[in-house]
Amino acid sequence: MPYAAITGWGQALPERVLTNVDLEKMIDTSDEWIFSRTGIRERRVVGRDETTTSLATAAARQALARAGRTPDEIDLIVVGTATPDDFLVSQSCLVQGELGGNAGAFDVGAACAGFVTALSAGTQFVTSGVYRRALVIGVDTLTRYVDYTDRSTCVLFGDGAGAVVIEATEEPRGLLSTVLGADGAGHKHLFVPGWGALVPESAELFPEYRPYLQMNGKEVFRFAVGVMGDAAVDAVKRAGLCFDDVDMLIPHQANLRIIDAAARQLELPREKVWVNIDRYGNTSAASVPIAICEAAEAGRLKEGDNVVLVAFGAGLAWAAGVVRWGTAGVAERADQYDETATR
Ligand SMILES: CC(C)(COP(=O)(O)OP(=O)(O)OC[C@H]1O[C@@H](n2cnc3c(N)ncnc32)[C@H](O)[C@@H]1OP(=O)(O)O)[C@@H](O)C(=O)NCCC(=O)NCCS
Repeated sequence: MPYAAITGWGQALPERVLTNVDLEKMIDTSDEWIFSRTGIRERRVVGRDETTTSLATAAARQALARAGRTPDEIDLIVVGTATPDDFLVSQSCLVQGELGGNAGAFDVGAACAGFVTALSAGTQFVTSGVYRRALVIGVDTLTRYVDYTDRSTCVLFGDGAGAVVIEATEEPRGLLSTVLGADGAGHKHLFVPGWGALVPESAELFPEYRPYLQMNGKEVFRFAVGVMGDAAVDAVKRAGLCFDDVDMLIPHQANLRIIDAAARQLELPREKVWVNIDRYGNTSAASVPIAICEAAEAGRLKEGDNVVLVAFGAGLAWAAGVVRWGTAGVAERADQYDETATR
């Protein structure tokens, strides 16, 4: 079972739209500043009744329906997220609890690179023959940890979820190459002080302390421009392809200028780059799967297309890979799969 084709995809976004014009009324900023520096016009923000679990489950249900699968047919759920609804129970268990079934379930912590990293993890289980089908989700509700008085961060982030189903096939489909990297020494350029098990000094000094995301924008920008293009180029080479073989680049949507830099390195024209940052901002781990979903729904991904995925984020971490789009060979293999071989 050497490959793991993407057979279904889905997305979910919060109802509430927060535009740059709305933000102009909340903080000292302007639509012109935000759009010219980032490419963002508006983003979606979770309301009281929307959660990481509700968004992830909605995206997963869509992906399962498109794949024509029930939760019982899924062997494994892998969720990339930095904002689980619970820090003891994995987000993947929370989603499985909603969907039903008894699939194995674990989370991947790689922040905005979470989905591409989770797709890589899920793919290893399928291509090694351990499991036949996996549900891979990227979801985040980072706006819960955004300080809406800090104009340098609050204009950037939005919430959402995206999901894919991957299934074993002998045809070269799904993730053909993976590039993972990290620079942990830079972790303080983008983090949430006082969010984890480490007790911050401020907890004693200020009992009402609420953790908020903090970022050194210039350092993260420099890091991102440095790694996005390199990781994408590396992924193309590792897949045994050249730039001319690339049909679409689906990058993490953090900043249009960062996306443009990566596209330049791959020598890709804008029409081969999926961009939706104007409508959603940076949805963290959800940004790549939401973009996959949009591109697929728009009919822009065809059987056999080579699609480069690349993402970066807190850690600082990055992940890239080439997906060959399509479902060739999936049904035939499913019939021949030997359930007793690995379970
Ligand atoms: C945050 C970011 C958009 C800022 O862009 P930039 O080009 O570095 O910003 P500039 O240097 O042009 O402007 C900085 C100035 O704008 C101000 N500013 C910051 N946010 C602002 C806002 N929302 N509205 C208006 N002014 C703002 C700053 O206070 C600063 O003012 P000063 O020079 O008087 O101190 C950019 O650094 C970035 O995108 N970084 C990467 C962030 C990222 O991707 N994070 C997520 C990773 S997954």
